[in-house]
Amino acid sequence: MTRSPSSPGFWRSPLRGPRLTSVLGVVLLGGITVLFVTGLVSYAAYNPNLSPVNDKTPDKGILGFYLFSWPTDPHWLYRLNQGVHVTLGVTLIPVLLAKLWSVIPRLFALPPARSLAHALERISLLLLVGGALFEFVTGVLNIQLDYIFPGSFYTLHFYGAWVFFAAFIVHVVLKTPMALRNLRHLREEKDDLVSPRPDPPTVSRRGALWFVGGGSLLLFATTVGQSFDGLLRRTALLAPHGGADPGSGPNGFQINKTARYAGIDAAETTEDAWHLVVTGRTGTVRLSRAQLARLPLHSAALPIACVEGWSTSDQWWLGVRLRDLAALVGYDDDPPDVLVESLQRRGAFRRAALRANQVADPRSLLALYVNGEDLSPDHGFPARIIVPAAPGVLNTKWVARMTFGDL
Ligand code: HEM
Repeated sequence: MTRSPSSPGFWRSPLRGPRLTSVLGVVLLGGITVLFVTGLVSYAAYNPNLSPVNDKTPDKGILGFYLFSWPTDPHWLYRLNQGVHVTLGVTLIPVLLAKLWSVIPRLFALPPARSLAHALERISLLLLVGGALFEFVTGVLNIQLDYIFPGSFYTLHFYGAWVFFAAFIVHVVLKTPMALRNLRHLREEKDDLVSPRPDPPTVSRRGALWFVGGGSLLLFATTVGQSFDGLLRRTALLAPHGGADPGSGPNGFQINKTARYAGIDAAETTEDAWHLVVTGRTGTVRLSRAQLARLPLHSAALPIACVEGWSTSDQWWLGVRLRDLAALVGYDDDPPDVLVESLQRRGAFRRAALRANQVADPRSLLALYVNGEDLSPDHGFPARIIVPAAPGVLNTKWVARMTFGDL
């Protein structure tokens, strides 16, 4: 007689039980909290409240309560935050799937609600499981450059994160006491997760946990390399951008969007054709690349850190300080915010805003050279922005216009 999934006898694995579920739960408790916090920090790094051009989730309302002016120190801050967010997200996938597998009998348990409290708990479980799958799936699709989700990744992933984390908090409050009790008690308590008619074991619980841990280790080992240069980067087999060969020489480091993808017309970037247009309090100045190169040049060692989680080590940039450009248009001591516009015709951030603290930082440059050589077209020739601790998308390439003034 076939049993339905709602009858306890249907689930035959001897592995299921409160102890396995509690171990996986405690790992996710720490991991998902870090994912949520690094995700919120990733959003804050856009300075979304500075200008609508930086904000892909303008209707966030009170969900933006925590936002603050993004700092420029330490210069590797965003590199670390996004590297942790994406690498941890990928690494946790086996743990999440194992946890969902371990509690699947509960999803089919009948009656669906024994009381109002039980009904609310089950609804929070649906939001929890749905939210988890939604966040992990949209996250993975995004870093695999597979933009097949219905709508903007930013909005979906941001709101999905809040729904998921709210359900997660409810779940943690309800379940942690029992989970800790389960971990303290060696003997498995009687529980609806324990199969009344288990099949003979093929692996022990410890073996199953090693298997899950091994899966996480494998995903970690084939993802984390995207945050390092050299041979380590080659190990990032799962990272479409992160593991690709950037070529050699001074411009031989990782890029996100090529000049070709961005629709840059080389004829617009020649010495005769291209001028930087700088506007501010005292009017507008137009500067050719040669004129820019005759201004006082400064260097800074700064990484490129992409929102997709990959990053480069520090590169040596040489160029004009943003605050010196601000001074050319009337902001001698108090550099204001700036709106930067690019020649690019494709891509999310053709315009980006930088806050006054970013403009004022002496390491914030309009770079003309990198590692002792002219920028290559893919790295933003004739000139690009480089600011410490900023997400890659705000370090605008192929800069055409800069408008200084409070945004
Ligand atoms: C495999 C799992 C995950 C991956 C690969 C992933 C990937 C990403 C990426 C690439 C971004 C940057 C988006 C951008 O600025 O372009 C991001 C942002 C974010 N992530 Fe995740 N994520 C994952 C899981 C999660 C989870 C589980 C949560 C919540 C608990 C979360 C919360 C956030 C938040 C709040 C943001 C900021 C969204 C924004 O900038 O608009 N992520 N994530």
